[in-house]
Amino acid sequence: MFLLIFLLASYNSIASSSSILVDFTSHAIQPTPQAYIIEYSPPVGYPPSGSAVEGTTFHSLINGTISATEYTVSVSAILMDGTRQNVGELAVFSSPDAPTLDSIETTEHEATISYFPPQGQNITYHIEYYPEEHKEYSNAIDTKASLVRLRGLDSGTTFRLRIRSVYQGVFSQELIDSTFVTQGTANYDYSSSAELYSVRTLPPNFNLGLQTTTEMTSYEYSKEVEEEPSITTPLVSVITTTSSPEPSFFTSTELEQTTSNPITTETIPPSTTTSTEATTTVRRTTTTTTSSKPKAAPVEVNSGDLGEDHPTENSNALVDLSEMLQEYGHPSEVYLSDENEMLRLDWEAPENANCEAFFVNYTILTLSRPRSFSLATSDEHANIKMFPEHTLDIRVFCMLAGALSKTWWAHRIAHLSKPKALENARVAEVNTDEFYVASIKLMWDWPVYHDFERYKIVISYGIGRADSKEMEVTNKEEFVLLDKLEPSNQYSISVRNASTELSLTSKATQLEQVTAPIISSTVYPGQISSNSININFGDSDPEQGRFDYYLLTFSGNNKNISKKVEMEHEKSFTFTKLIPGKTYQFSVYTVYKGVKSRPVSADITTYPLKVNQLFPVVGKDYVVLYWDIENFADSDCRFRLSYNADNIPTVSVELKGASRHRFSGLKAEVYYTFTITVIMGIGQAAAESESEMITVAIPKGRLQPSIHRQGSRELVVGFDNDLSVFSLLNGSPDNFAIIVSDDTSLNDDNYELKSWFEVKDEDVWGAYRASPSTWNPFDSERVRRAAFTVGTDDCVKRNLDEPYCNGILRAGTDYRVKIRMYTDTKVAMETDWGKIEGAKNSDDEEEDEEEEEDDRRFPCHMYLNGCRRKAAVNRLSFIPFIISILITVLLF
Ligand SMILES: *[C@@H]1O[C@H](CO)[C@@H](O)[C@H](O)[C@H]1NC(C)=O
Ligand SMILES: *[C@@H]1O[C@H](CO)[C@@H](O)[C@H](O)[C@H]1NC(C)=O
Ligand SMILES: *[C@@H]1O[C@H](CO)[C@@H](O)[C@H](O)[C@H]1NC(C)=O
Ligand SMILES: *[C@@H]1O[C@H](CO)[C@@H](O)[C@H](O)[C@H]1NC(C)=O
Ligand SMILES: *[C@@H]1O[C@H](CO)[C@@H](O)[C@H](O)[C@H]1NC(C)=O
Repeated sequence: MFLLIFLLASYNSIASSSSILVDFTSHAIQPTPQAYIIEYSPPVGYPPSGSAVEGTTFHSLINGTISATEYTVSVSAILMDGTRQNVGELAVFSSPDAPTLDSIETTEHEATISYFPPQGQNITYHIEYYPEEHKEYSNAIDTKASLVRLRGLDSGTTFRLRIRSVYQGVFSQELIDSTFVTQGTANYDYSSSAELYSVRTLPPNFNLGLQTTTEMTSYEYSKEVEEEPSITTPLVSVITTTSSPEPSFFTSTELEQTTSNPITTETIPPSTTTSTEATTTVRRTTTTTTSSKPKAAPVEVNSGDLGEDHPTENSNALVDLSEMLQEYGHPSEVYLSDENEMLRLDWEAPENANCEAFFVNYTILTLSRPRSFSLATSDEHANIKMFPEHTLDIRVFCMLAGALSKTWWAHRIAHLSKPKALENARVAEVNTDEFYVASIKLMWDWPVYHDFERYKIVISYGIGRADSKEMEVTNKEEFVLLDKLEPSNQYSISVRNASTELSLTSKATQLEQVTAPIISSTVYPGQISSNSININFGDSDPEQGRFDYYLLTFSGNNKNISKKVEMEHEKSFTFTKLIPGKTYQFSVYTVYKGVKSRPVSADITTYPLKVNQLFPVVGKDYVVLYWDIENFADSDCRFRLSYNADNIPTVSVELKGASRHRFSGLKAEVYYTFTITVIMGIGQAAAESESEMITVAIPKGRLQPSIHRQGSRELVVGFDNDLSVFSLLNGSPDNFAIIVSDDTSLNDDNYELKSWFEVKDEDVWGAYRASPSTWNPFDSERVRRAAFTVGTDDCVKRNLDEPYCNGILRAGTDYRVKIRMYTDTKVAMETDWGKIEGAKNSDDEEEDEEEEEDDRRFPCHMYLNGCRRKAAVNRLSFIPFIISILITVLLF
């Protein structure tokens, strides 16, 4: 409630200074009517539109009107018989508001006066000034400017200054009435010569006329912090009303007694963000400003002792926004634009708000003592003075029947400072594509906050200064591409942060950038080997786009090479000492003024080395191939393996990351030729090595060695010299490997076999060779069958000459055994895996079950080592022991 009263009061104090005088004497009718009804539009004023005056009165003063506005007044008469008759319609201009004094700066003979114009257009100012107490020296000027310099003043003299605004010949009712003192010492005594001048004339020593400064923008509304006390003093203007003094709200009871004295209160809202009832009110009753020694106004601090009701302590600070939201609801937007160096405010009240007029109240927040101004208008817009570099709090209220309505309001914080310049604006990339269209990629650092409704980024660019194009960025883009540019040209680019509403822009960031030249060359390889590449490139046509020279680059393992190549030079280069099978990139650029074109590149792979050796292991209907890789480069190494045989279709596979491959389903008694090729490099850059090949025959026979336990840690393996398995077609036998494994699913029986030393400490051993590397039991024709006992050696020391050793086995473990014959031609032929025969433990039974069975069958004393303990490593069971002894006896 407080708020409403308060706003009404401020409205009244402002709006009441405007009035219209309706005089319809010439329209008076006879006989005298009962009354005249006066209606006017806009319907803002007092007495309200539609009020009556007595039939003997021919004029009416309507106060509280909207200032500087054309009113249409229609007068009708109520005749004695009660009928109504139109009398006439008049157009009347309401008086404008007085201007508001901003500052007066003085020197010895000059005074610069700045004041804020009131609402309305076509307002002129009538300025009158004279040495205090000597009105006869009064000088008057009429001007449209709101910044005026008075010249030729006497030094050290107090001058009185009065300024009224004038609208269509109608003077404001209120005025600026102030005094100022010129600097220096007085050198003229007016009092002595006072009577000499009976007519108004110029004061003595008044030599120069007045000058009005027109460039208002050159004078900025000075921030108080920047004020030099010796020059400027914030003035308190005294506004005296020519008619009856208007009590303002905050002067109500107490000050009413003193309104005969000119008093103005100036308010200092404590801050924009905090709302507090305790306000600081500065009251000054002095109207004199001395230019040299500004008097610090005493600051009154509200003690709060008298309580809130005490009128002088009513806060007229800017009402906190949250309070406003509660009272008035969500505000509409106020739009800004600039018009003739004025700030134009626009708003839109909804139809159903039925606003007859608007009350605009704006506060300059950025002053150390913020000042508020207000105006009333019947339009949905208003022009106010531009306050560069300041921030305004603008509130627009709806007026209904002369009072503020709460149905609608609008609010805006207007920043009139220059937008922040862009940070780190830079050219991120230049490019010219294969269609010879150049582009420049711009980037800058986006601040945490950028309001795209209020600010946009404006980029103008062109070759040199002329022919400039402009583009706007209204979204947060990571970068901005200036496209469709000419190659090999210098562009000037300027980037600014600009207000979307006002003609405010930041300082421009200037960038100069040469666009990339074109390139029409192609790059192609000549001769390639496993360690050298010859590279060539064609000419680019300088007619199509200028450039200075070529640049050939090569990126290698140890160094990157950049070679500058003059236009007329040979364009063929051989790069040597390259790594086999490695893909190298060669790029050619044209360069103009240090700017590179797009690269024209070729990826070329040196020939890979072929595999070191190809080892086959041949079994019944299958061949497993093993090979070694020779290439160190990491260029995506692949292998193509294939086989050929008579009357059999060729089969080919491509493998990656492998060093063995199994071909199965092969036909017996057929010679197969296996080929392996190394491929490195991807796509077009792929290069192939020479091929390595080997031919083997597939045997037709099949064999499983017989295996028997001998004790818990030895196996006896027996097998025949079966030539249908160990075929002589693949070479003569060189040595035989007894391959033992506790897990054949590992498939780890490589061509080169592991030794007992390598596996003995593993949880799962996998395949290893138990027989010595030279073991060949069939060295004599007569030997048809061979036996080998696995696990008989001590293997205490490793023998340098013999990598393999026949070390002891783990007890209680099931092993499988196969025999592989290596020929003198490095072909291996092998049997199937054989199982231990006659073992008490069958493969698929769990150990726990076995134990249970044992426990059931025999009492403890029947075991050699007593009862078996769970998880004992050295286990010996009676039955297998007996069986293995039996088998040994049978065999030998
Ligand atoms: C208008 O004038 C009347 C006296 O004529 C006065 O009582 C009233 O307060 C004035 N209204 C305003 C809004 O100033
Ligand atoms: C201001 O004056 C000009 C001519 O002096 C006139 O054309 C224009 O309509 C006036 N504007 C207003 C708002 O009175
Ligand atoms: C504008 O409003 C503020 C707070 O609402 C108030 O303090 C100030 O007096 C008003 N200004 C005028 C000139 O009425
Ligand atoms: C543009 O200026 C406004 C106002 O100073 C600022 O809030 C905004 O962050 C600026 N934008 C950029 C991209 O610097
Ligand atoms: C060569 O250039 C590539 C990028 O073009 C870079 O990644 C590499 O580190 C450079 N090598 C040397 C040795 O400078």
